Amino acid sequence: MTNRQIVTLGIVILCILVILPFTVAAQGQREGRGGGGGGAPPVNLQILPKDWTRQQVVQVMQGFNMALGVGCNHCHIEMAGAPPNEKGVIPIDAAPDDKQTKKTARVMMRMVAQINDTFGNQIGKPASEVVRVQCVTCHRGSAIPKTQ
Ligand code: HEC
Ligand code: HEC
Repeated sequence: MTNRQIVTLGIVILCILVILPFTVAAQGQREGRGGGGGGAPPVNLQILPKDWTRQQVVQVMQGFNMALGVGCNHCHIEMAGAPPNEKGVIPIDAAPDDKQTKKTARVMMRMVAQINDTFGNQIGKPASEVVRVQCVTCHRGSAIPKTQ
């Protein structure tokens, strides 16, 4: 390989490295929207701030998926009559509260907020050093965190 070819190759690799993170981010956003029925703003938030955008909500939701080891359809109904997307997944209709799991998730969200609001100041640590309880603290990748 000539020096010139090496330099050209270097530039190509550099471009890929620079562009890649943006493509991945864009893909993540598409998946978030695709899973929620278009880019419509949320209409049924009872715990998360009502003025949050769909994108902000979906970021939290992706955390739920990871923490519980489930897909979005564990808590959300499928969009009636919608064809499967390129991954073979039928898009969800996120606003209705038809599934018990979605209602249970709200109970859990309140519980977690309450835990974090109350225990931190009783364990003799500065607030900034207290480890906050999250869904994953209990769930660790399973929908029902049974220990025995
Ligand atoms: C563990 C259950 C659970 C999982 C899994 C879950 N969600 Fe949710 N989702 C909820 C709950 C609960 C709410 C309502 C939150 C509130 O009331 O503030 C909600 C609300 C939403 C909303 C707002 C709907 C509206 O119009 O008010 C969207 C959009 C959404 N979820 C998308 C998703 C996507 C996309 C995924 C997968 C990445 C997902 N959800 C996974 C429980 C879940
Ligand atoms: C203190 C531990 C703990 C934390 C923290 C916790 N959960 Fe749970 N969660 C449980 C237990 C225990 C169950 C099983 C209850 C049962 O059905 O017997 C459960 C069940 C659920 C279920 C029902 C699953 C199913 O398939 O029926 C959902 C949904 C859920 N949790 C969502 C969440 C979300 C979302 C968070 C974070 C906001 C969260 N949980 C945080 C302990 C926890």
